[in-house]
Amino acid sequence: MSDLYCVFGNPIAHSKSPAIHAAFSTGSGQDMRYEARLAPVDGFRQAVADFVADGGKGANVTVPFKEEAFRLATRLSERAARAGAVNTLAFRGGEIFGDNTDGAGMVRDITHNLGYSLSGKRILLLGAGGASRGVIAPLLAENPASLFIANRSAGKAVGLAEAFADVAPVDAGNFADIAGKSFDVVINATSASLSGESLNLPQGIFAPGSLAYDMMYGKGETAFLAVAREQGAAQRADGLGMLVEQAAEAFLVWRGVRPEAAPVLADLRTKLGQ
Ligand code: ATR
Repeated sequence: MSDLYCVFGNPIAHSKSPAIHAAFSTGSGQDMRYEARLAPVDGFRQAVADFVADGGKGANVTVPFKEEAFRLATRLSERAARAGAVNTLAFRGGEIFGDNTDGAGMVRDITHNLGYSLSGKRILLLGAGGASRGVIAPLLAENPASLFIANRSAGKAVGLAEAFADVAPVDAGNFADIAGKSFDVVINATSASLSGESLNLPQGIFAPGSLAYDMMYGKGETAFLAVAREQGAAQRADGLGMLVEQAAEAFLVWRGVRPEAAPVLADLRTKLGQ
């Protein structure tokens, strides 16, 4: 029987992960099955136990269970420990190994798929929630010139910057604090677009040749990328590449093989009509 994997979430019906991993396993010749599992909001632990009893070898974890998966893991990768959240579980003997591939996926999308080096760049990260926390260490590992975390409420950004101060100096503040500064890379890690709100960004933050990157994606241009285009960001990308690359990184954790992500991403873009 082929090895079994899944993605846990709530809701989960519209997850693209089963299609992505099916394409990876076909492309790499790995014998595995991957399904979507809806876990009750208060029943994640039991859902994982049931899956392991079914012979499950590994799982992806999405909203709202990433923090609970972090607590459930009996061993954590360093990047998961830094992120405070787990999006990839591997069940090995009695061990529950917790990893986080979100940041690595985003960095690979930027540096490999978009061909944009982060080394020596001035990076602005918008938002100070879980999505933001998960990408900070992988961003700092690329040796940027600087990293500024800006959040609607400055306190959360300052707390996050302090949590990574042992890795590298990180600046933090609210959106007013970035007025008059300019950046080579601006990453949206806020959830503003989920509530249909747009960010109140000061003019002039996009340096010539800059990249605007939205961790969100949708059918058309996201609200953040529309603002970035109006403000002159040279290159703009949504989070679909990050979605595929975090999956590829999880596949690598489970199978020891890095699948080809580019054709899967191209196929998803075609299906989304982009
Ligand atoms: P996630 O895990 O997706 O990061 P989260 O922890 O709830 O979710 O964090 C959401 C982030 O989006 C926060 O940084 C939040 O800002 P606050 O800390 O000030 O709440 C940010 N956010 C959500 N809606 C926003 C809006 N309309 N404008 C600006 N920031 C917004």
